[in-house]
Amino acid sequence: EHGLHAPEYGWSHNGMFETFDHASIRRGFQVYREVCAACHSLDRIAWRTLVGVSHTQNEVRAMCEEFEYDDEPDDQGNPKKRPGKLADHIPGPYANEQAARAANQGALPPDLSLIVKARHGACDYIFSLLTGYPDEPPAGVQLPPGSNYNPYFPGGSIAMGRVLFDDLVEYEDGTPATTSQMAKDVTTFLNWASEPEHDERKRLGIKAMIIVTSLYFLSVWVKKFKWTPIK
Ligand code: HEM
Repeated sequence: EHGLHAPEYGWSHNGMFETFDHASIRRGFQVYREVCAACHSLDRIAWRTLVGVSHTQNEVRAMCEEFEYDDEPDDQGNPKKRPGKLADHIPGPYANEQAARAANQGALPPDLSLIVKARHGACDYIFSLLTGYPDEPPAGVQLPPGSNYNPYFPGGSIAMGRVLFDDLVEYEDGTPATTSQMAKDVTTFLNWASEPEHDERKRLGIKAMIIVTSLYFLSVWVKKFKWTPIK
C-alpha cells in the first residue's frame, strides 16, 4: 500500500544550475547529530566530507576526536582505542542490527546515507514524513502496539514516532528552530549526504556547456572561411 503522496516543495537545490544551501546543510547536520543520530547511522559519510562544505577542518577535527575508534592492537596483542580522524566514517549508534532492533521494539532504523535516493518522493517525502504526524490517528484507524500513525509512510503505521518539536535544537546562526525548519534543514543535509558530488557536478556541467557552445561557434566561423572561395 502506498503512503499519501507528498506535496512538491520548491527545494532551492532543485534547479539545473542551483547548488545546495550550505547554511542549511550545516543546520541539518546539527539536527542529525542531536536528534537522528540517537537511532540512525550515516555509514557512508567520512568526517572529512564535511570539511569546506558545512564546517571548517578544525571544527570537524574537534567533532571526530570526541569519538573513539578501534586501533591496531598493542605489542601484547591487547585491543587499543584511538580518537577519531578525518578519514574515519561517522560512527553509528548501535554495534549491530540486533542491538538496533532491540532498542527499537524490533524495528530497524535504516542507515540514512542514501535514504533520499532510496525513497520515492525523495526530499518531499522525507520532509512530509517528519512533519506529518497528526496529534491523533484518524478515527477508526487501529495501530499495532508500539507503532505510530503517519499518512506518508506506506501502510500508515511506522515504528518511528514524531521526533521533531519546535525549539528542540538551538541554531547558532539564530534561525528559529521550528519543526518545519529543522525538517527542511535535515532533509537538505541528507540530500547532500546522498550525493556529496552534486555541487561539483553542476559546476562542471556549466563549464562543459560553455566549452561546447564556444566550440560550436568556432566551427561555424571556421566553416565560413573554408567555403568562402567556393561560393
Ligand atoms: C525510519 C528519518 C530520528 C527510529 C526512518 C526513515 C526515515 C527516518 C527517512 C525511513 C522511513 C521509510 O522507510 O520510508 C529520521 C530523521 C530523524 C529520525 C531524519 C531525525 C530528525 C529517529 C529517532 C529514532 C528513529 C530519534 C529512535 C528513537 C526509526 C525507526 C525507523 C525509522 C525505528 C523504522 C520505521 C519502520 O520501519 O517502521 N527514520 N529519523 N528515528 N526511524 Fe527515524
